[in-house]
Amino acid sequence: MKRAAVIVSFGTSVEEARQRDIAPVEAALRGCTGLPCPTAYTSPTIRKILAERGTIVPDLAGALEALAAEGVEAVAVQPTHLLYGFEYDGIQKTVEEKKGLFAALYLGRPLLGGTEDVQALAAVLAGLCPGEPGTAHIFLGHGTEHSANRVYPALQTALEHMGRPDILVGTVEGWPGCDEVRKALKARQAKAVRLAPLMLVAGDHALHDMAGEDAGSWKSRLEADGCRVDCLLRGLGSLPQVQALYAAHFGALLRAMEADNGI
Ligand code: CO
Repeated sequence: MKRAAVIVSFGTSVEEARQRDIAPVEAALRGCTGLPCPTAYTSPTIRKILAERGTIVPDLAGALEALAAEGVEAVAVQPTHLLYGFEYDGIQKTVEEKKGLFAALYLGRPLLGGTEDVQALAAVLAGLCPGEPGTAHIFLGHGTEHSANRVYPALQTALEHMGRPDILVGTVEGWPGCDEVRKALKARQAKAVRLAPLMLVAGDHALHDMAGEDAGSWKSRLEADGCRVDCLLRGLGSLPQVQALYAAHFGALLRAMEADNGI
């Protein structure tokens, strides 16, 4: 049975971030298998911006159609998305729609698919942050209106159970937001804050909503509260520990596809 995999990401228009934060995750996934693993991006806006610069990246439907045209019969789709949000729902819908093109079409879990995944990422974040009196670490996620937003407070709880209440989880567009995190910083009497993205890619949101110089950014608001703020501008995808978590999901997906189909 001719097999392939597709690595599907939201994408980013920030080229430096694409190379730093997405490319190494793709490389780690490709390292798990000898199968061809084309890339797909889910964001039409980003694919359009990249196409104008001469970089053509298909959407998931396009990538799957191309593989079917090459005679591929079994495909594993591994998303680099963090949670089961609206983007993941869209991927799932495309996979359902394209099932008829293949003998087998499998979809992998997002980074924070289950409780164990949340605990694993909490352990990675705790390992990255030395505990220092008076210093707090904030990991800033995107956040969503989708019920999957609950992974952010779940991650916070996992960190607290690990004895790391100095590591806080916030979101740009979901809950907890900046006001909740500021209150928590006050309660912890933190004077210094390290801000880092809890996003695959340190793109637009990290550059502007997190680290931007305008008064509404997290950096500016925390500085206005009297904190010294350092920003780390790299996405989760740049971390080898996170790449390994994705690779574990992908490995499980490939093994399931092979076992179910006797290949
Ligand atoms: Co956004």
